Amino acid sequence: MNEATNKAIEPNTWLQLTEKARHAYQRAYAPYSNFHVGAAALTLSGEIVQGCNVENASYGLTVCAERNCIAQGVINNANNNTVEFSAMVIYTEQEKLTPPCGACRQVISEFFPKETQVMAVNHLNQQQLWTVGQLLPDAFTPYDLINKT
Ligand code: THU
Repeated sequence: MNEATNKAIEPNTWLQLTEKARHAYQRAYAPYSNFHVGAAALTLSGEIVQGCNVENASYGLTVCAERNCIAQGVINNANNNTVEFSAMVIYTEQEKLTPPCGACRQVISEFFPKETQVMAVNHLNQQQLWTVGQLLPDAFTPYDLINKT
């Protein structure tokens, strides 16, 4: 964990992330499930990127809000630096807060240090926080591909 990821996320930053996730939620393309999800994440360079779920008539091709959000962070990384994120908010208008699915937990683990936090928020401003390590303990990450024999 470097200095930037170590820094606690300020309440105001969580608020900004929530607002951006709520905007992304409004763009969700979810005609099949009608389950709209928005996500926003903070990059190490201080940028907030967004994603919404994008469904498909071939249902299995649906991509979740979280993975689309991470993809935007990767695309915006013009200098080809190591992409890293330090916080994510997942916004839905469900009374039961929405945790990231298993596939998203794996993709989150690729780009978020395990100490960083993911927050689920809803329209009632109810919140739940997890660290990335709690979401996917003992994740398979790029470090596992380092072949030292
Ligand atoms: N979905 C997300 O976008 N993120 C989650 O964390 C859970 C599920 C989407 C996928 C699909 O479009 C809809 O929600 C219902 O599963």
